[in-house]
Amino acid sequence: MSAPNKSYDPVEVEALKPERIDAARDDALAAFAAAESLDALREAKIAHTGDRSPLALANREIGALPPHAKADAGRRVGQARGAVGKALAARQAELEAERDERVLVEEAVDVTLPYGRRPAGARHPLTTLSERVEDIFVAMGYEVAEGPEAEADWFNFDALNIGPDHPTRTTHDTFFIADGGDPGREGRTPGDEAGLVLRTHTSPVQIRTMLTRRPPLYVICPGRVYRTDELDATHTPVFNQVELLAVDEGLTMADLKGTLDHMVQELFGSGLTTRLRPNYFPFTEPSAEMDMVCFRCRGASVGDPDHPCRTCSSEGWIELGGCGVVNPRVLVACGIDPDRYSGFAFGFGLERLLMFRHNIVDMRDMIEGDVRFTRPFGMEI
Ligand code: PHE
Repeated sequence: MSAPNKSYDPVEVEALKPERIDAARDDALAAFAAAESLDALREAKIAHTGDRSPLALANREIGALPPHAKADAGRRVGQARGAVGKALAARQAELEAERDERVLVEEAVDVTLPYGRRPAGARHPLTTLSERVEDIFVAMGYEVAEGPEAEADWFNFDALNIGPDHPTRTTHDTFFIADGGDPGREGRTPGDEAGLVLRTHTSPVQIRTMLTRRPPLYVICPGRVYRTDELDATHTPVFNQVELLAVDEGLTMADLKGTLDHMVQELFGSGLTTRLRPNYFPFTEPSAEMDMVCFRCRGASVGDPDHPCRTCSSEGWIELGGCGVVNPRVLVACGIDPDRYSGFAFGFGLERLLMFRHNIVDMRDMIEGDVRFTRPFGMEI
C-alpha cells in the first residue's frame, strides 16, 4: 500500500484507475458466467473476490488516498465490488438449482421396479384343509395318528382282510418296494415285514393303532398315499387321504352316520345331510359309499335344466368317500374282541374334496407347487 500523500490523485494510482476497476469487474462477471460448475465458480470467486483479487487490492489502496479523493475512489470500487458480489450470488443460485435438478433426476428411485426381497411362500390349501378336518374330529375327542408311507404289506393288506389274490395286490394298483414273497403263505404275522409297499391308503395306520392301544379308540389318520395312476386332470399317483376309525362298545352304523353328518356340516355348512349307498370293502361289513347333499345347489338343480349345477353335475349329491362298520376279522387280526367291541371307519381323498369345494378343474394345479396357485387360498389359523 502506498503511503498517505497529500498530492495523491486516485486517477494516477494504477489500481484505482476507472478502466482498471471496470476491467476487473468485467473479468469477474465473465469468469462467473463462464463457470460451469460450483467447483469452477468457487475458483473464480477466490480469484475475483479473494484477498489477492484486483478489486481487493484496489480497495486497499483507498486507505492511502488523501481525504478528498477517498469518496470518489471508494464509490467506484464499492460499486464494482457490489456488482461482482451480486453476479456471484446469482450464478451461485443458478448452478445450485441446476445441481439440485440433476440430482433429482440422477438419484430418482423407480418405486415400480421389482425388488430383491425373498418372495414369501404360502401354505398349501391341502395342508389347510387337512388341518381343518383334523380340528373337527379333535373337537369330538379324536386323536391324530400317523404312520409310515413305506408300509409293510401285512399292514396295508393282510390285516385289513385284503386277501392274497385281491386285484389291488398287483403292480396294476400298488407300488412295490420290496417283494415279501408269497403273500398267501400260512401264518404271516405283523412282524413279517419283508414285503414293503408304498401305502395305498392310510388304513394301515388304523391297524397300527389297534395293535398298540386298547379300545376305546377314536383316531383320525391323515397322510399321503400312493397308487399307480397316471397323472392327469383327475388322477395323481400321490394323493392325500384322511381316514377315521372309532372302536368302542356298542358302536353302530347310526354312530357313523351321525359322525359323517356332523363332519359335512362343519366343513360345508349347517343343514347338509349325507346318504349311504351299499358298497364293498374287505375291511368293513357292511360297507357303504358316502354322498353328501350338494353344498352349492342343495339338490335344487336336479331336473332343472335351466339352472344346472357345476359342482354336482346336477346330480344333487357329491360322492365323498367309503365307510362302514369295521369287519370283525380286522378286529380279530388286531387282537380286539369282536364280541365286546365294534367300530366304524371312513376314508376319503383330500384332493377331490378340495376340487369341488373350490371349483378346481385340474388336479395337477395342486401338485405342481406353483405359489401363484396356493396364495389366493390365504391363511387359516
Ligand atoms: N381305505 C379305503 C380306500 O382307501 C377307504 C375306506 C376307509 C373305506 C374306511 C371304508 C372304510 O379306498
